[in-house]
Amino acid sequence: MTTWNFSSGPAILPRSVVEKAAAAVLDFKGSGIGVLECSHRSKNYEPVVASAEARLRKLMAIPDDYGVIFVQGGASMQFAQVPMNLLATTDSADYTDTGTWASKAIKEAKLFGKINVVASTKEEDGTYRSLPGLMHLTPGAKYLHVTSNNTIFGTQIHQFPNVKVPLVSDMSSDICSRAVDVTKFGVIYAGAQKNLGPSGVTVVIVRKDLLGKVDRKIPTMLDYRTHIDNGSMFNTPPAFGIFVLDLVLEWMEGQGGVEGVQKNNDAKAAKLYAEIDRNPLFKGTVDVADRSRMNVCFLTEKKEHEDLFKKLGQSRGFVDFTGHRSVGGFRASIYNAMPVAGVDALIEAMVDFEKTHG
Ligand SMILES: Cc1ncc(COP(=O)(O)O)c(C=O)c1O
Repeated sequence: MTTWNFSSGPAILPRSVVEKAAAAVLDFKGSGIGVLECSHRSKNYEPVVASAEARLRKLMAIPDDYGVIFVQGGASMQFAQVPMNLLATTDSADYTDTGTWASKAIKEAKLFGKINVVASTKEEDGTYRSLPGLMHLTPGAKYLHVTSNNTIFGTQIHQFPNVKVPLVSDMSSDICSRAVDVTKFGVIYAGAQKNLGPSGVTVVIVRKDLLGKVDRKIPTMLDYRTHIDNGSMFNTPPAFGIFVLDLVLEWMEGQGGVEGVQKNNDAKAAKLYAEIDRNPLFKGTVDVADRSRMNVCFLTEKKEHEDLFKKLGQSRGFVDFTGHRSVGGFRASIYNAMPVAGVDALIEAMVDFEKTHG
């Protein structure tokens, strides 16, 4: 039986990437030692970091005035590192509260400057089902922080706001899933473990002129400039993670780049949402206009169907397709690497479920 991995992250990787990575674990470039065992400064490994950076720059059309770095600490570290590097003690920044991760970013940012929550879509029950409309930004705010894709609740920004200040976006769960205009952003950050590779490596894309303007002392390892100036090699980088990330980016190139992947993602999401809307036994959980093309959340109309559909899915090889504990129901994460066939298998299960339980 084929297994379909709908995990929200760490998540499915392209099969060809996993195979190449597995081979390199045993023997890296014919050196007789594995990629997990060689020095990050060895002649075999060192070019990997430059290659990953170059590929990402090309795929996302990242201009030269931006640094691209691979660091550790996850996106959660970026919740603090962004304001630490960008906000002076007396500065303020605007944040949108659109989900669990956004609210965690707000909590950390408050340690470093004045944070204005300019929009919150939190419902009374603590969940989030939509994204904000027009926002009034705060005069003088240094940046506007948004979460481009809310992994837990399944909402996604489809049009980034046109604002005068730089946008700072947590793109952990939709980076490289579609084309974005990087020049609108001061910082883009993402844990790799959804669309880019394994956990343990975090990508940060930062406009360099925003750095060096704060009044605090920044620990060397947390100063973006340390990693920009050293090509992500100031200390031992998350070497295996970057190696796999480079393979994923190479795979993306073969898919027609971001545009190719985006076309596939749009088609996958459209057919899955169409089934959720058509099938009387299921319903979506968020406003239609804000639906995520990465994390598709849905419920059964009847609570007693939930366990039954879960069992059906398990019998068909679906892994990690239940919703986050704060939402319940189901969440199919259909990141770049999820083939159309995986989405088709889920739709087929929903159709069959209707036949037996409708
Ligand atoms: C949108 C978003 N931001 C931040 C995080 C936290 O990432 P990490 O576990 O890499 O710190 C996640 C994790 O799932 C996420 O989905």
